[in-house]
Amino acid sequence: LENGVARTPPMGWNSWNTFGCNISETLIKQMADAIVNSGLRDLGYKYVVVDDCWFNPTRDSSGNLQGNPSRFPSGMKALGDYLHGKGLKFGLYEVPVDKTCAQYFNSYSGATGSQGHEVQDARQFAAWGVDYLKYDWCSPNGTITDQVNTFAKMRDALAATGRQIVYSINPNSIHSKTGPQRNWGDVANMWRTTEDITNKWDTGQTNGYPMGIQNIVNVTIPLASYAKPGAFNDPDMMEIGRGGMNDTEMRSHFALWAMMASPLIAGNDIRNMDSATTTILKNQNLIAINQDSLAQQARQISNDGTRRVLAKNLSNGDVAVALFNQGGSTTTISTTASAVGLSGGSFTLRDAWSNGTSTSTGTISASVPAHGTVVYRVSGGATASPSPSASPSVSPSASP
Ligand code: DGJ
Repeated sequence: LENGVARTPPMGWNSWNTFGCNISETLIKQMADAIVNSGLRDLGYKYVVVDDCWFNPTRDSSGNLQGNPSRFPSGMKALGDYLHGKGLKFGLYEVPVDKTCAQYFNSYSGATGSQGHEVQDARQFAAWGVDYLKYDWCSPNGTITDQVNTFAKMRDALAATGRQIVYSINPNSIHSKTGPQRNWGDVANMWRTTEDITNKWDTGQTNGYPMGIQNIVNVTIPLASYAKPGAFNDPDMMEIGRGGMNDTEMRSHFALWAMMASPLIAGNDIRNMDSATTTILKNQNLIAINQDSLAQQARQISNDGTRRVLAKNLSNGDVAVALFNQGGSTTTISTTASAVGLSGGSFTLRDAWSNGTSTSTGTISASVPAHGTVVYRVSGGATASPSPSASPSVSPSASP
């Protein structure tokens, strides 16, 4: 969406994965402080997104949305001011329909949806200082056309406020599963590609509930051509630091989100991060690959079911190459500079995890542990057009 924001994938934190409906202004402020004190803000994690359950069950006498006064006694504007005072951005959740997902599934008494109130609500969000709206379908009903029309109404209402607001949509909640069926870049800055992520490597789903990391990657990689500045596939908030994966899997999760030009929205409790989690979320090589100004999503170079190779063109002519082991035991994964679109006879490979470099005359190869992902930033050659073996979803004109 060409609304001036999200020229690279948005980075931040969202309350849902760890806290669900157990949110309050105290919690959000503590998390904001932790995002600053941990150094995450200065690495780009700026959007603090308050997900479902912030609402008062009714609108005020003028029909305006209100925060839940027991959870947010100072009001939503005060929360926005606090975040802005910390150099952070304010994200908020809403639905078009009468009930949020939490109301469907947990009988939570809460929201009142924006359908029919788009202009009034968008103005309210702008007045509160909202910088990011997550708009969640949360209805078993509706065709893709209904979704497009409904999401576009809020897009236009946000634009009419004159405030720069990242527009994040979820067409997939409650198993509508429409995300991969459409390129939503004309409607939103980011759109969920699957049902909800969970804290597991693999749930065996193709696009049901809940989705493991491997499953979401399988759905999202083929959508690479949709990504561009202002428009990103959203494989959901990250599950790093939530205990359901080993360190290799957590590193892979982050590396793959970085390669897929995915929004990097942490979902863990930032106040209590172990050192593995901190190191992963703060990996500057991978953040730079994710935030590269070309904003391309990695295209698939090869996949034999176990060994999967992805390549992401970067603005300075380098190519980030991921060697992803989907199998259950250590294996060697190899590709070549020419296969990822680089020409020349001498290359430097920087390992995103160790930060060490090596030289190569063309082979790009590593021994990769089960579920691991090695990422090299490959430089030194001139970038050529993607080779014919690359995914046809990337047009040659997308290459620098
Ligand atoms: C469904 C979404 O996919 C989740 O990310 C979260 O926003 C919940 N709804 C909240 O009810």
